[in-house]
Amino acid sequence: MRDTTQAKIEELQAKKQDILQGDPAAIARQHAKGKKTARERLEILLDPGSFVEFDKFAVHRCHHFNMHEKKILGDGVITGWGTIDGRPVYVFSHDFTVFGGSLGEVFAEKICKIMDLAMQNGAPVIGINDSGGARIQEGVVSLAGYADIFYRNVKASGVIPQISVVMGPCAGGAVYSPALTDFTFMVEGSGHMFITGPDVVKAVTGEEISFEDLGGAQTHTTISGVAHLAYDDEVACLEHVRYLMGFLPANNLDPAPLVPTAEDSAPDEQLNTLIPDNPNKPYDMHQIIESVVDAGDFFELQPDFAANLITGFARMQGQTVGVVANQPMVLAGVLDINASVKGGRFVRFCDAFNIPLITFVDVPGFLPGKDQEYGGIIRHGAKLLYAYAEATVPKITLITRKAYGGAYDVMCSKHLHADVNFAWPTAEIAVMGSEGAVQIISRKQIAQAEDPVAETKRLTEIYKDTFANPYIAAARGYIDDVILPSETRQHLIQALKMSAGKRQVGPQRKHGNIPL
Ligand code: HXC
Repeated sequence: MRDTTQAKIEELQAKKQDILQGDPAAIARQHAKGKKTARERLEILLDPGSFVEFDKFAVHRCHHFNMHEKKILGDGVITGWGTIDGRPVYVFSHDFTVFGGSLGEVFAEKICKIMDLAMQNGAPVIGINDSGGARIQEGVVSLAGYADIFYRNVKASGVIPQISVVMGPCAGGAVYSPALTDFTFMVEGSGHMFITGPDVVKAVTGEEISFEDLGGAQTHTTISGVAHLAYDDEVACLEHVRYLMGFLPANNLDPAPLVPTAEDSAPDEQLNTLIPDNPNKPYDMHQIIESVVDAGDFFELQPDFAANLITGFARMQGQTVGVVANQPMVLAGVLDINASVKGGRFVRFCDAFNIPLITFVDVPGFLPGKDQEYGGIIRHGAKLLYAYAEATVPKITLITRKAYGGAYDVMCSKHLHADVNFAWPTAEIAVMGSEGAVQIISRKQIAQAEDPVAETKRLTEIYKDTFANPYIAAARGYIDDVILPSETRQHLIQALKMSAGKRQVGPQRKHGNIPL
């Protein structure tokens, strides 16, 4: 009896050893491509020794194409949970060394199991993607497996944070799981996402394009906006996923972790001279953000996509806030299609997870032009407007300089029920810039003038004196206070304290209909 028990224990140990060891030749091929294995990635992502694996003995049930002769424990995906900075997260990591990380029925069941547990227990899901896609031998069953995951991605949206990391191929319909998650991180050179690869593109359109140009990290973080951040190597990528997690709550009911801050800083006098006298001269909005948030620590998302609108996380007195800011350095901070979509999605994430929003405004308006109109700037601009109006988290807004036209309304104005709206004395809140306005309202007067140039200048000055200030809006209560730039941090902290207990109940409805 003792021998039998001993033999069983040894059998288990041998199986576990096999699972941990994997296929050395396939691992060598993975390493030769500059990629880490699924297990190595989890070791970097999670706190040391915290990973608890599920379903390591799972195998596929496929008989086609002699698959019954090839059963590998775990079936090509490693799933389980662990901790990041001591907080639980659920994880899955595609194992490219097993059937190219391709997804079949059992593979999908393993992922669905941890997604269900994450939802039930209120903890984020982080998925590491490195897969040849639907397991061809399993046919429609693998398509069903994908859809089972997509369904859970949608159900979990706004309940638990979902993060995708793309460190290898992610092609075809497989891209829709990362697309449904909140944040996507990619690795340069190895992470590729596309609906159809270069061969199909060539066959269908005749166009020749490389994997990297079609679906690499640069493409998705600068042109398509599909991914949020790109890193040179896997370690940096996973370390930044850990950094991101530090800003996020575990779910939509729990608060984000409070990170103790040092004694509060003195007013920043440099902010008093930051805004150039020339209203057309840019300045870097990052300087303001980094001056007012805790320790200058700002984690920017999508920095290279629609850089005219800055989005990211920071903390104020230890509490996570979402920052949205026009960037005068890029396209003068104008709102265009990409900026509106980027901002709208970020605002909705913050609202879903009870993260207060701070909006910094210096916006000359929406970008004019045929391309924008044909591309649907009306529809896309409405997304940002909708997201701000819908958001019930504390909303604090600061106008530093321009707040013109519809973009004034959209950028979390009082009229969209922002809680506290500040302006610097340099704020200009008007229907449009002075030069443009004078050309419209005084065109005849200018044409008839003896010296049209001098007359334009004179009328522009009158318009500026009348509107290029924050006091008309402040007189009406659209701006709650005009503040010294140097004291911005203190005012923002007070406003966050004031609105911390905010509760706002909307009308009964199934859901709104955000313009998509
Ligand atoms: C089964 C697969 C596979 C797949 C790769 N493998 N993809 N097995 N189903 N989808 C296997 C290979 O046969 C090989 O097995 C091993 O994984 C490694 O693959 P290689 O081709 O040797 O690796 P590499 O040269 O690095 O190329 C990787 C690759 C390529 C670019 C991903 O394998 C490839 O193009 N695969 C097919 C991709 C694809 O078209 N997938 C379907 C997409 S459509 P051996 O035994 O030789 O080691 C899709 C629909 C999803 O996914 C729909 C969801 C709704």
